[in-house]
Amino acid sequence: MRTVDLLIKKRNGVELTPEEIKHLINGYINGDIPDYQLAAFCMAVYFKGMTAQETVHFAVALADSGDTMDLSAVPGIKVDKHSTGGVADTTTLVVAPLVAAAGVPVAKMAGRGLGHTGGTIDKLESIPGLKTSLTPKSFIRQLNTVGLAVTSQSGRLVPADKKLYALRDVTGTVDSIPLIAGSIMSKKIAAGAEAIVLDVKTGSGAFMKRKEEALELATTMVKIGESAGRETIAVISDMNEPLGNAVGNALEVEEAIMVLKGKTGGRLRELSLVLGSQMLILARKAEDFNEAYQKLEEILDKGLALEKLTEMIVAQGGNPKVVENTDLLPKAKYQKVIKSWQDGWLIINDAQAVGRAAMLLGAGRRTKDDVIDPTVGLKFHAKTGDYLKEGQVIVEIYYNREDNLKDALDVIKNAVSFSEHSVPPRKLLYGVVRKEGYEEY
Ligand code: URA
Ligand code: CA
Repeated sequence: MRTVDLLIKKRNGVELTPEEIKHLINGYINGDIPDYQLAAFCMAVYFKGMTAQETVHFAVALADSGDTMDLSAVPGIKVDKHSTGGVADTTTLVVAPLVAAAGVPVAKMAGRGLGHTGGTIDKLESIPGLKTSLTPKSFIRQLNTVGLAVTSQSGRLVPADKKLYALRDVTGTVDSIPLIAGSIMSKKIAAGAEAIVLDVKTGSGAFMKRKEEALELATTMVKIGESAGRETIAVISDMNEPLGNAVGNALEVEEAIMVLKGKTGGRLRELSLVLGSQMLILARKAEDFNEAYQKLEEILDKGLALEKLTEMIVAQGGNPKVVENTDLLPKAKYQKVIKSWQDGWLIINDAQAVGRAAMLLGAGRRTKDDVIDPTVGLKFHAKTGDYLKEGQVIVEIYYNREDNLKDALDVIKNAVSFSEHSVPPRKLLYGVVRKEGYEEY
């Protein structure tokens, strides 16, 4: 098989066979195929797309490039959850203990990630003492004792995706639906859960700006999961404004704890209950959505999910007192507020800009070698649709350095506006994609 022939075939929009896709991925990871040929492949896919079958074989070839997690020593149906990423998206820290408290083992391999804040692993590392690199053995042991474990993704899991993602990043081929779907699903397949719930975001702060693109990504990922023998569903949710109120690492941990304590409601709580309900259904712990939702609300209200998080923190060596007293989380030195400059109904227009502001303060990584500051970020006091009087606080800024403060403040001010007429709160949920098709909410 000559690699160049496969590139020409793909360039001409002809479907590649499973063997041809395997040849490309295996050759790339072995070093037999150079970067420039895979770069040409990614660009051809960017323009010509992939058929559903190609996408499945692509994801499986990536998943097979390294180790896979064997969770067979953990009884029960393991259900994984993944979000395509958004601003103030702390759902994993709420959903994982919530679902685990309902008796579903949650084996979470999470990433650090690039972006406006760190990933779940960075957020958890703001809890003093907490270890996030568990050996496979202690990961399994903790799943069998606590029912919940979160570990950073091992370097040996899906190495082909790591290499390919870095290549896509510098060749303008990140935002291709088949490449994104294959990349995400390869990691879910390798992580070993029997079922997968995806949260596909759409809006200004998401990868997929338009709902139609989010639906296409969701449909592609569900197809891959189902073809690989994993029951998969995708919820499509809004990312036109931050999901929760907090953007930052320690600040998001604090907000997750507040949701688990029942002290904060809103979109973060609602989406966590919805995603958790879908996980319960896939784990066969509930017959239907209403039963699952009621069960999880009861667990949340009884404080059982908070207890589960505490057990996990203890098992991973962290200080469990942060749960009672979130002042034990690391704090930024300085705070500043942005106040409403007029009376009116608030509109948060640009979630991406809010994320950019958090990044300017040091909450995120631009490149994988950047060091994040766990303490900095933003805390919103209002959402789209709230009526504010002049002088009321819109957002609190937590910072340690002055350098980018003014830019961050400007970015946030530009991301919000006021209306003189009442504005409804934003819709949170658009619909669900199952193997049978799309159902709009
Ligand atoms: N997240 C991933 O893991 N892969 C992509 O390609 C895009 C987002
Ligand atoms: Ca986030």
